[in-house]
Amino acid sequence: MAENNKKPAPGVLWAGRLEEKPEAEAFAFQASISVDSRLARDDIRGSRAHAAMLGEQGIIPRDTAAKLDAELERIAAELESGTLTVDAGAEDIHSFIEGILTERLGDAGRVVHAGRSRNDQVALDFRLYLKRTVPELMTELTETIIALLDKAEKHTESLMPGYTHLQRAQPVTLGHHLVAWCAGLVRDRSRFADALQRLDECPLGSGALAGSSLPLDREATAKALGFARPTLNSMDSVADRDFALELSAVCAITMTHLSRFCEDVVIWASEEFKFINLAESWSTGSSIMPQKKNPDFAELIRGKSARTTGNLVTLLTLLKGLPYAYDKDLQEDKESLFDSLDTVRSCLRMFRGMMASAAFNTERMEAACVGGFLEATDAAEYLVRKGLPFRKAHEVAALVVRDCVAAGQTRIADRTLTELKTRSELFGEDLYDVITPAACVAARKLPGGPAPDEVDRQIRVLRECFPDNVNI
Ligand code: ARG
Repeated sequence: MAENNKKPAPGVLWAGRLEEKPEAEAFAFQASISVDSRLARDDIRGSRAHAAMLGEQGIIPRDTAAKLDAELERIAAELESGTLTVDAGAEDIHSFIEGILTERLGDAGRVVHAGRSRNDQVALDFRLYLKRTVPELMTELTETIIALLDKAEKHTESLMPGYTHLQRAQPVTLGHHLVAWCAGLVRDRSRFADALQRLDECPLGSGALAGSSLPLDREATAKALGFARPTLNSMDSVADRDFALELSAVCAITMTHLSRFCEDVVIWASEEFKFINLAESWSTGSSIMPQKKNPDFAELIRGKSARTTGNLVTLLTLLKGLPYAYDKDLQEDKESLFDSLDTVRSCLRMFRGMMASAAFNTERMEAACVGGFLEATDAAEYLVRKGLPFRKAHEVAALVVRDCVAAGQTRIADRTLTELKTRSELFGEDLYDVITPAACVAARKLPGGPAPDEVDRQIRVLRECFPDNVNI
């Protein structure tokens, strides 16, 4: 930094101790306002509860508490309406709000931080923010699940190949495949709910790390802020970020799900598969190849899952090796989790829009069930029902498949009964009825299976997780 670049740092909360302030670039380096300004509402909520409690406890005069409350409410309204904007040059959102309060109220503003540190304040703001935004993400998940279930419901009879090793394996239905996706998303939603429950404890009153000698009422602030209870231990309150880690992991898992679904979509949209026709408005063209219609949204969602995986690793790495209690390293926690939460939100919205507008080429999907001997397992199970041990039946069916291949035939049904009987006397006319793709699917009616009635039941079970949305 050039000598003549030295500018006094803006006003800071810790100016009393240190005469020398960092230069502007260094000050900006350690500031977090660009990231934590989104906590403004939460910071004000926390300060209002804290000030009210200070008044109740007689730590500050009641009329001062009332003044603080009114001013904080005004600041919140001004920020909301845009008449007040966050100063990008402030150190962080906590200093900014306290600075405005003091500018407007003088000494009355200076009392609000009694018994509080930015360490418990930021832990509180972060939790309050998550308590109000994670339920919004859960709603995005619910709507995505419902949209997929609606699609699945229309396709419980739409036959398609199910794959293992990306090789055609056994016939399933599109409905069965879509419900498989939904089952994962339903678990993701419950993971979010679970993490929310665990973070529902109020760190306010933990101070820098060791609480306060002032007679704070931690129960009262926890209750006023809608927490289940205050946190148990003041060091844990300011040091740990396992709640952020947990949510980051849920974001990474959710995005891993979306990434895999999108990989299916990219494959289905290829010329080779042509199972899905993405709406034009959910596709993009090429700048050079005039014929192209690319599944960019699916690819980008798949790509963005890299961020959430990276963010999870960032947080794990950030926390590993941090001595108790607070360390400034922790300031890096929010950017990482905010990015994951934002990514999950936008990807769910995009995925939902892309899928809701997509059309499936059901004829092509059904046609793909023929030709890859997807009925071979059913032929083997036919023999099992006739009394042949499964390992033997498997071998017979495999030999039949080899016979077909040698004869240039694409289906077991292409062989005559006489030909089949050379491999097993147990084959009869009734075999032909159980090896069509529709018959294979209909026969798999065990719980979890692809039979249309069973998939209808699976859809009902999942819909029951969202009683409010059942009729959407
Ligand atoms: N901006 C800080 C953070 O996000 C607030 C806490 C600062 N505390 C401190 N002792 N410097 O962690």
